[in-house]
Amino acid sequence: MFPKLLMRQLRFLRNRPLLNLRFLSDTSTTPSQSCNSTITPNKLHNHSPSSSLNYLELAKFSAIADTWWDSQGPFKPLHAMNPTRLAFIRSTLCRHFRKDPYSARPFEGLSFVDVGCGGGILSELFLSSITISPMKPLARMGATVTGIDAVENNVKIARVHADLDPETSTIEYCCTTAEKLLEEQRKFDAVIALEVIEHVADPAEFCKSLASLTVPNGATVISTINRSIRAYAAAIVAAEYILHWLPKGTHQWSSFLTPEELVLILKRASINVKQMAGFEYNPLTGRWSLSDDISVNFIAFGTKIPR
Ligand SMILES: C[S@@+](CC[C@H](N)C(=O)[O-])C[C@H]1O[C@@H](n2cnc3c(N)ncnc32)[C@H](O)[C@@H]1O
Repeated sequence: MFPKLLMRQLRFLRNRPLLNLRFLSDTSTTPSQSCNSTITPNKLHNHSPSSSLNYLELAKFSAIADTWWDSQGPFKPLHAMNPTRLAFIRSTLCRHFRKDPYSARPFEGLSFVDVGCGGGILSELFLSSITISPMKPLARMGATVTGIDAVENNVKIARVHADLDPETSTIEYCCTTAEKLLEEQRKFDAVIALEVIEHVADPAEFCKSLASLTVPNGATVISTINRSIRAYAAAIVAAEYILHWLPKGTHQWSSFLTPEELVLILKRASINVKQMAGFEYNPLTGRWSLSDDISVNFIAFGTKIPR
């Protein structure tokens, strides 16, 4: 017990000062990958009313942006879920794009956008093969990855962290929204938004934007939390108030969507949901796995209906 705790502390101390220093000293450096659209705090307030931005939600993420890569911090559940959600994405996308799931770079030639990428903890994995230990990438998966987030501090952290490894430094990170990327007529083979839809102002409009960013026959993957009583107990009461995994107030139950609602709004946005899975937590191992139980956390894969 004690050595485990000590290891955690050491890992935390090793990561944190390095990231903070890099963050502070890197704010004036030019990112190795840049993009046309950038939301500055001023621009945030002038953003169009049809935007998906919910300023209260964004402020919460901005306040804890420097903790993205602390795997024991407020984003601990996302770090813990990463291998499992990546397994779902990899298997559904390999099947959809007819790629060899055993290849080291199955997504060679495909473009992905990670909408609401936060500190880049998922984007970086797209550039690494799914491995037993996601902390130890074996080979690049080959996709061209763009990560976007409306919070500038998140994008800065993502950029600094990605630049620590030549393998991930090719990621294009932009402080922007799906709507802004659309104005620039950007399109992607796969559009991925994990744990974002419950934080946006208008989920239906957000899904329309995700769909418009997806090429015809391309893929869209969304994960979120079900608006169920079980989810209230697990994702709010337990995760925020008992286990303290997340800061209190991270989630509003009324902002959650049921799987049926998500399927419907995606359908209206021309995305056909083809596969869904739930995430199940094992308190004994501390690990997440895919399951048929979609009553709490779930992930959906859909394809863009060609017009
Ligand atoms: C819970 S985090 C999920 C981060 C990442 N997708 C993951 O699962 O590891 C939600 C992220 O979405 C971002 N976000 C919220 N609304 C957004 C919007 N309308 N456009 C872009 N990013 C948004 C927040 O800043 C935050 O980084």
